[in-house]
Amino acid sequence: MTVSSIISQDKVRPILVTGGAGFIGTNFIFDWLKAEKAPIINLDKLTYAGNLDNFKTISSDSNLEFVHGDIGDAELVKAILERNKPQAILNFAAESHVDRSIHGPGDFIDTNVVGTFRLLECARDYWERLRGEEGREFRFLQISTDEVYGSLQPSQDASTEENAFVPNSPYAASKAAADHLVRAWHRTYGLPVLTTNCSNNYGPYQFPEKLIPLMISHALGGKQLPIYGDGLHSRDWLYVADHCSAVKTVLRGGRVGEVYNIGGRNEKTNKEVVLAICGVLDAEIPRADGKSYGEQIASVPDRPGHDRRYAMDASKIVSELGWAPQETFETGLRKTVRWYLSNHDWLAGIMSGSYRDWIQKNYGVR
Ligand code: NAD
Ligand code: TYD
Repeated sequence: MTVSSIISQDKVRPILVTGGAGFIGTNFIFDWLKAEKAPIINLDKLTYAGNLDNFKTISSDSNLEFVHGDIGDAELVKAILERNKPQAILNFAAESHVDRSIHGPGDFIDTNVVGTFRLLECARDYWERLRGEEGREFRFLQISTDEVYGSLQPSQDASTEENAFVPNSPYAASKAAADHLVRAWHRTYGLPVLTTNCSNNYGPYQFPEKLIPLMISHALGGKQLPIYGDGLHSRDWLYVADHCSAVKTVLRGGRVGEVYNIGGRNEKTNKEVVLAICGVLDAEIPRADGKSYGEQIASVPDRPGHDRRYAMDASKIVSELGWAPQETFETGLRKTVRWYLSNHDWLAGIMSGSYRDWIQKNYGVR
């Protein structure tokens, strides 16, 4: 393990992003480097979901440093904090896929719970030694999910920050546990934390195990489009760039110790989402036989413990901090499909042996 700091001390103090080689972290890093002066240190373990190729177009950017490692490695994290003196830690790192958490929950506990605990302890140790403005301005921002609030009834209002935690999958439970730890480290030790709970994201660089990129890649590969159960489960979809702008908004103006829900008010059933993807593909890259990609849709047995409905009430971040999403589901989906069509190599690179094994494990038995 080596920590080579290339961030010179005369620059604006950097931010530490964890899990930056994954889907949302990658989008966040691109977005940040376009507009902000502060450099980024990206600490990522490079699990199956982390991909350094995402940054090949900006590999010479001196404002981005990559450190290969685990958020649970306290010695490494302490060394990064000491040498780079970040003004904030943004914890994106997680095991993030519900289906994988059903097949193997251990990694979710290790990273999402124990890893977050270790990161919090390192952050506390570092923050307690900061003086004056540096201490007052430091933030620990935890990136979390709507899944901690559990499944809503059709008639229930969208989840606010006051909803009780009712996590149902091992993934959701591990994220809920981490959110509790973050809250406790603020209440008990005064660590200046912020938490964002966001709804389902979609957009460029999303690993094709998740609904939208999986359907695009299966459609293009002539494979079936596997909808779990009756396909009437609904999610509240948000384009990833809108999530990134919300995270920046909370980092800048969020009240310490507070939680902010993020969502796009785009509730769609899975069937509606898959039909919309097929519609965009039919227009962009029609099938050779002239039929719709919708012909490939297949109903497969449901996911165990499958949450029926998530929906987020984002009025707190809207009214307190003035955040608003820029994309509708239609514009965001068109951008997403076009990105996957013009980045076929990225998708092909991921379809490695181990990923094919996962597809067999998850869908072979349904
Ligand atoms: P992802 O699975 O695409 O990426 C996770 C990244 O974390 C990968 O680069 C992986 O290598 C890294 N990582 C995993 N374990 C690590 C560890 N122990 N130490 C360091 N790095 C590690 O996930 P994502 O979709 O980009 O999600 C990012 C965050 O946002 C997660 O915390 C997730 O819970 C949250 N979130 C995701 C969504 C969504 O729809 N994808 C919605 C709301 C919240
Ligand atoms: P997913 O992208 O795994 O996100 P999450 O479970 O975190 O919401 O799944 C989104 C929805 O799509 C969820 O209701 C499960 C469903 N789904 C399918 O119907 N088929 C699939 O192949 C996948 C991956 C998901």
